Amino acid sequence: MNFSYNKLFLKVTNCYMSSIVFKCSLLIFVVLAFRTLWLNPLPNGFYWPPSYRPSRSLTPTIRIDKFLEVPQIIWGLNNQKIAFARACLTARLLNRTLLMPMLTANLVYKEVNLSEPIPFDEVFQFEKFNSVCRGFARLGRYSELLNQTRTFELLKGSGRKWTKERDLNQLKQCQEDPADKFEVIRIVGKNPFLWHDHWPVSDYAKIFQCLALVEEIEEEATKVISKIRGGKQAPYIAVHMRIEKDWMIHCKKVEQRYNMSQICSSKEEIMERVAHIGSVQKPVPVYLAIADSLLEDNTILRGWGEGLVPYEKKRLGVWDLYKKYSYIIQAAMDFEVCSRADVFVGNSYSTFSSLVVLQRTQRWINMGGVGSHCDVDTPFVSYAYNILGESAAPRRWMTDMSAMNLSSISYGTDNISC
Ligand SMILES: *[C@@H]1O[C@H](CO)[C@@H](O)[C@H](O)[C@H]1NC(C)=O
Ligand SMILES: *[C@@H]1O[C@H](CO)[C@@H](O)[C@H](O)[C@H]1NC(C)=O
Ligand SMILES: *[C@@H]1O[C@H](CO)[C@@H](O)[C@H](O)[C@H]1NC(C)=O
Ligand SMILES: *[C@@H]1O[C@H](CO)[C@@H](O)[C@H](O)[C@H]1NC(C)=O
Ligand SMILES: *[C@@H]1O[C@H](CO)[C@@H](O)[C@H](O)[C@H]1NC(C)=O
Repeated sequence: MNFSYNKLFLKVTNCYMSSIVFKCSLLIFVVLAFRTLWLNPLPNGFYWPPSYRPSRSLTPTIRIDKFLEVPQIIWGLNNQKIAFARACLTARLLNRTLLMPMLTANLVYKEVNLSEPIPFDEVFQFEKFNSVCRGFARLGRYSELLNQTRTFELLKGSGRKWTKERDLNQLKQCQEDPADKFEVIRIVGKNPFLWHDHWPVSDYAKIFQCLALVEEIEEEATKVISKIRGGKQAPYIAVHMRIEKDWMIHCKKVEQRYNMSQICSSKEEIMERVAHIGSVQKPVPVYLAIADSLLEDNTILRGWGEGLVPYEKKRLGVWDLYKKYSYIIQAAMDFEVCSRADVFVGNSYSTFSSLVVLQRTQRWINMGGVGSHCDVDTPFVSYAYNILGESAAPRRWMTDMSAMNLSSISYGTDNISC
């Protein structure tokens, strides 16, 4: 983001030197910038990305006296993010404030009764969410409720007969009385990740943009990044390597089910393809975002191509820093390290990788990128190592922001838009 603004500034100052016309342009630019800032006061250090700069007169509001409550959000960090976004978009459909939900600190899949709830605002900034998402979605606290006895319980149906259409009809009925009269609509039953999806990728992207890590975690992630860069402004590659046993068993099953061969990549295949990425100057640090179980596997640091200098948390000396935190915080830090990398390489069947690429595609759009994010040297390039691209390198990868639903991101795809 800074990149485009600095460039613009340079252009403006150069022109200023050479021409009176540009003197006027500069003046207008400054006036406009001032006006924008004045109309939209910003929280510390934050500016509106162009596509989401709100316009006061056009921005609809979300009701602040009607609420939606959802069940605790569970599973992996990125399933939780998707579930959270789905809950927000449901609340938006009902023109209600979403009561700040509980996320889950530890990684549990089956024994939900062993999950450790963690309030949303211990991971992401509450105020910032509301200021960035203003007019689009709103989070509220339980203390804002007037009368807790007035709750409408909404049971989502399940099973094959509970189609997407029935689900949407049920929600639409809640837009009307009697349900709409209630201060709180509480959805009971399934985790929001399992609800039907009624929203385009661009709506999810808007919600994800409003998620900023709480400052303490953000600072920790920045420390990790600065260690990877070796204290300099040097570029780095981040590789989200899914090669642990559980994943391999899972992905082999998926490959069999769909009769495909492009989902599982071995360690060797990943190393081979990353070595063929042409756009980076070597030597370059390569951060390996890997499961904790692989931190004991010393072979993971061997066999990388010339000029690729691999690091995981242990070699980087940040394992102790990570270990202080719960699973979800550790995953959020890794997500940050991957999404801010100069080059990201992931697996197109991983939700984590897919959301990293979505965030990077969005950043590129915010910087003014239009058309295809696949061409030449663009900032925030991403690759899918599980799909072979040109010259033995992995295939370039961007998110299709015009997709009508999130299924390719939440369940994986080999259609990576490049
Ligand atoms: C929500 O309700 C408020 C008040 O009734 C209305 O002004 C606003 O336009 C509605 N917002 C949306 C997104 O429908
Ligand atoms: C969690 O639930 C499972 C069955 O669903 C049960 O066997 C187990 O004892 C429960 N654990 C705790 C700590 O309640
Ligand atoms: C809360 O709602 C209930 C049911 O509608 C009503 O009987 C009660 O008086 C309300 N309490 C307050 C404090 O408004
Ligand atoms: C699986 O795919 C291969 C090559 O694409 C094809 O030859 C084979 O017949 C397919 N098998 C099944 C069961 O569809
Ligand atoms: C998701 O959208 C695609 C088109 O973008 C469509 O083919 C697919 O059926 C949709 N999936 C669901 C579950 O709605």
